[in-house]
Amino acid sequence: MSAGKKVAVVTGSNKGIGFAIVKELCQKFDGDVYLTSRDEGRGGAAVEELGKLGFHPQYHQLDIDDEASALRFRDHLQSKYGGLDVLVNNAAIAFKNAAPEPFSQQATETLKTNFFSTLRFCNIMFPILRPHARVVNVSSSAGHLLKISGENSVAIDLRKKLSSSELTTKELTEMIEGFVKAAQTGDHLKFGWPNSAYATSKIGISALTRIQQRAFDNDSRPDIIVNSVHPGYVDTDMTSHKGPLTIEQGAVAPTWLALLPPNVDGPKGGYVWYDKQIVDWVNGPTPTAV
Ligand SMILES: NC(=O)c1ccc[n+]([C@@H]2O[C@H](COP(=O)([O-])OP(=O)(O)OC[C@H]3O[C@@H](n4cnc5c(N)ncnc54)[C@H](OP(=O)(O)O)[C@@H]3O)[C@@H](O)[C@H]2O)c1
Repeated sequence: MSAGKKVAVVTGSNKGIGFAIVKELCQKFDGDVYLTSRDEGRGGAAVEELGKLGFHPQYHQLDIDDEASALRFRDHLQSKYGGLDVLVNNAAIAFKNAAPEPFSQQATETLKTNFFSTLRFCNIMFPILRPHARVVNVSSSAGHLLKISGENSVAIDLRKKLSSSELTTKELTEMIEGFVKAAQTGDHLKFGWPNSAYATSKIGISALTRIQQRAFDNDSRPDIIVNSVHPGYVDTDMTSHKGPLTIEQGAVAPTWLALLPPNVDGPKGGYVWYDKQIVDWVNGPTPTAV
């Protein structure tokens, strides 16, 4: 057991922004950093690439869609370190605009990984978080509440429910399940949701972050903080390399949130922009995008 050693985990970190977060954490975090990937070959290649740059993360397989994989990793951390200090929930998928899959399928698959698997992974890992742990949920500019833009009573009611300070995880889960169900028949717009599975998944993640922080505020372990973050529009496979920011620039705000010092005032349960601005998730405005 690496007793007393701190440990940080980044999901989906064999490439893209997650890879750059691991790289920056290797330079700044006082402890072991885990690069994780669903595919061991891709993970091994990423570890090798970092090794050539002089960085030496730990590695573990992790597919957040696979509960057994998540449990194996949790058990590994528990037995090797006795807990977890930093968790960056970065893994996600996005269908391309021109994807041939029907919207119903895109909704099912996108919400599965980006919302339901991320939520389940949190529920598996949160019991082993140590006092002063930092959790970062990678959201998006698409995850701002005002991406539910309608001014009819259905959309207003949806925004009100999602932003309620009494919203529970169970209620949020049921709402997101409702989106997926409505998407099967193309009725999601009628219920006020955006016409984007990806945006809905990230709205869900930012709403979840607020609920999670309320739970941490009442946790016996002191000073656990979670925030959601828009990393910027970044040059990765997900954006077909159209984003202007480098992966290192995309890693700046997530890594800053992962390394918030002990007993800091905030941000807590916040929605943070890539330039570290704290954005009002409920009322906006959002700063101009990158
Ligand atoms: N790029 C942007 O401009 C942008 C903007 C806003 C938000 N974001 C968010 O930033 C995060 C990183 O995005 P990115 O642009 O770096 O995307 P990316 O290059 O496509 O990388 C996504 C990573 O997630 C992994 N992944 C997907 N499903 C997984 C699963 N079930 N279990 C474990 N890992 C899984 C991928 O693994 P494989 O290699 O095996 O596919 C890959 O390592 C995402 O949450 C994304 O939504 C990105």
